[in-house]
Amino acid sequence: VQNYRITLLPGDGIGPEIMAVAVDVLKVVGKQLNLSFEFQEALIGGAAIDATGSPLPAATLDICRNSDAVLLAAIGGYKWDSLPRHLRPETGLLGLRSGLGLFANLRPAKILPQLIDASSLKREVVEGVDIMVVRELTGGVYFGEPKGIFTTETGEKRGVNTMAYTESEIDRIGRVAFETAQKRGGKVCSVDKANVLEVSQLWRDRITALAADYSNIELSHMYVDNAAMQLVRCPKQFDTILTSNLFGDILSDAAAMLTGSIGMLPSASLGADGAGVFEPVHGSAPDIAGQDKANPLAQVLSAAMMLRYGLSQPVAADKIEQAVLKVLDQGDRTGDIMSDGMNLLGCRAMGDSLIQALEQQ
Ligand code: NAD
Ligand code: IPM
Ligand code: MN
Repeated sequence: VQNYRITLLPGDGIGPEIMAVAVDVLKVVGKQLNLSFEFQEALIGGAAIDATGSPLPAATLDICRNSDAVLLAAIGGYKWDSLPRHLRPETGLLGLRSGLGLFANLRPAKILPQLIDASSLKREVVEGVDIMVVRELTGGVYFGEPKGIFTTETGEKRGVNTMAYTESEIDRIGRVAFETAQKRGGKVCSVDKANVLEVSQLWRDRITALAADYSNIELSHMYVDNAAMQLVRCPKQFDTILTSNLFGDILSDAAAMLTGSIGMLPSASLGADGAGVFEPVHGSAPDIAGQDKANPLAQVLSAAMMLRYGLSQPVAADKIEQAVLKVLDQGDRTGDIMSDGMNLLGCRAMGDSLIQALEQQ
């Protein structure tokens, strides 16, 4: 029996509801494939602030470092929105990513045929879309110095963040994108704002130079404003999108809507070594928290990404992804992906349906 230590970070809002479903699914798949998961739960975000005063207690980072993979749900909520920056739930998540050195965030947006009608875009625009956003995750304007709210000589306040990348930071995420594209459609579109920003000029120069090592990859560059437009105009032109931290955050939410709902999109956050963090692209959805309305599929698909990218268990990952397709084929839908004639289910019932589908495989 293969034994894996998995840290669970349910976090806030809908986090605990969707995490419970993913854990049940993992237990069933584990039993079927003789994998044993040792789950340890730890605190992050608002839940950690309430219990310990810190959004990322040192104990949490330690437990994550000592595990084989981390499954995270979501953090944040109105309750903590007015705390000072260093005490906000989001600061805990950023600390986790930088603390574990997770510079590469893979966010796949693939339209499932069953959900074409749930997309807000026309069938012919989204049919066949299969994009991988490779988002840089530990640099850029999220982390650059100086940052803060300062007082100017005239006594006015001035908010400052700094968008900065070093050559080595650009190169390592560039390599991830090129290698990702090699296993997919062979095309990388690097998205930047090189017409205005020096940091983007360096980004574009380095990525262009790096492309020499990947002669089988077709590299293109696009400005981020155009990329936002092209994503909704003709998303099928994209295979792998390589971009910086902030642009990737924004573009991956836009890409999510191509697939019908942000409740469907998983992600993998990876470093050079050590445990990866696997988390949905969406947040804690405070507007529907505690109502059993959340779509657990992004969380469940994040568990599948954990098996595939974090634990090298592709068969187990396939099994979970097949079960997701099966329940969608049956017409099971949560509210966010509901359309005419389908069965409206809550979060828990969607989980039960997934487990049935797994047991019938
Ligand atoms: P959000 O993604 O939480 O919600 C946006 C909209 O999508 C809401 O209407 C929500 O109900 C819906 N939604 C999201 N996930 C869903 C799901 N699984 N099923 C059904 N509907 C879903 O974004 P927001 O409202 O901008 O942010 C809420 C909080 O989450 C904030 O505190 C924010 O900082 C935090 N956040 C956390 C993460 C994370 O933990 N990785 C990511 C994004 C936002
Ligand atoms: C995401 C979120 C986070 C980000 C926030 C909550 C810090 O929006 O994972 O997409 O901006 O990276
Ligand atoms: Mn985001």
